[in-house]
Formats: sequence, structure tokens, C-alpha cells
Amino acid sequence: MDSRLIVLDDREAASALAAELAALQLSRTIARDGQASFMVSGGSSPGRMFSLLAEEHLEWEKVTVGLVDERWVAADHPESNEKAVREKLLKGPASAAHFLPMKTADAEPASAVASRAAAYAPHLSPLSCILLGMGPDGHTASWFPGSMGLEQAMYPKDGAVIAAIDASNTPVAGEFRHRMTLTADPVCNAEAGILLVFGEDKRAALEHALNGDEQLYPVRRAIEGLGRRLSIIWAP
Ligand code: 6PG
Repeated sequence: MDSRLIVLDDREAASALAAELAALQLSRTIARDGQASFMVSGGSSPGRMFSLLAEEHLEWEKVTVGLVDERWVAADHPESNEKAVREKLLKGPASAAHFLPMKTADAEPASAVASRAAAYAPHLSPLSCILLGMGPDGHTASWFPGSMGLEQAMYPKDGAVIAAIDASNTPVAGEFRHRMTLTADPVCNAEAGILLVFGEDKRAALEHALNGDEQLYPVRRAIEGLGRRLSIIWAP
């Protein structure tokens, strides 16, 4: 069993622990540097954690919140990660945080990589805290197995911090096939990481990811890269 794996009885307890860990890390960084950066994943898992974290009394005005990845849909689309963050995290005390969107007016993410890299880079050296999720297929961020752009995302050349992903040839195809994602450089260099995973179906995938091939289970790249800076939280 990986010593970083924390198994909790239910998703409420897991979300509360994840929120506490993030609050602690952000507070620690603010105390040291006067500012902090928090890069978060979307999807369904972090919702409760966001709501709990939003009520923490941090110096949120010193925190920059950004995305680990984004579906290339309008910011008011029901499946937009930006929408989820604005609605569930950037409220109450946390509404004072500075938010850094990924989605731009560009038709496709590839056209926006340079501009978003320029906007994100100042907050990634290193980022203070990263919240990751995992799909049953072993992806994290938008690192979908077999997707186009995955090599550049997982093994970035020339220090790229942002990559465009085309998941057309994966089960993610369709409306959400175009993605933008942080690359493994900022992800693996984060000062602290939280991997929040729910459900029995993902427990098996997590076990494979802890020991498997990172090409098949891209989340392993983050698990290996973050090492002991990562807390893996799982609940049924
Ligand atoms: C996204 C996420 C992605 C997510 C996993 C898990 O945009 O979908 O950033 O990496 O963390 O797909 O998603 P769930 O929490 O919905 O299972």
C-alpha cells in the first residue's frame, strides 16, 4: 500500500481533509512568500471540497486560483471547469482570490497555448498547491491515454507549461475533445499536491496507476513526479 494513500469512510470526510490540506498549504505559502497559487482540476469530485475550502478564512486576496485543465467550451457551459470553480470555490471569503481562466475566445486551444502559458507561467515556479482528480481510465488533468498532444503534455519540450490536447480518438471525443492542460513540469514541481479520488471503480484504476505504466495510466506521471509532496485521498 502506498504510504501517501489516505482511505476515508465517506466523501464528506475526504472532501473535508482535502480542504484542510489545501488551506494549510496556501496559508503556509502566503506566510513565507506573501502570495500563493492554487491550481485545481474540474470534474465532479472536488465540488464539496471547494465549498468547504471557500469558507476558510485565508488571505485569499493573496491567492491566485487557476485551472489544471479546461474543456474548450464557453465559460457558462454546464461542463466548464471555470464555471464550476467560480460557482463553488470563488465565493464567500474565497471570492477575494484572483482567478486565472484557461478558456479564451480562440476557436481551439492550440491557438491559445502561447497566451495562456504567458499568463500562467508567473504562478507556476513552483505552484503552491495542486488539486488533481483521476478518471477510471487513469487520466489526470487532460492527459487522456492515447490522446493527441499527450506526449507534449507529459514530457514537455522547451519547458512548456501549457499544452493543447485533442482527445478525438479517445472515449472523451465529441463536445469535450478539445482541451487545454498544464504539462507535467508545473504539475510535478508543485510544492504540494492532493489527488482526490472517489468510487470503487477508480480504486482499482488507482492501484494500477500506483504500479503501472504511465503511458497507460498518465496519472502515474504525477504520482511519481510529486513523490512525497502528494497526498492521495480516496473514499468509496
Ligand atoms: C476534467 C478534470 C479531470 C478530472 C477527472 C475526474 O476536466 O475532467 O480536470 O482531470 O479530474 O476526469 O473527474 P471526476 O471528478 O468528474 O470523476
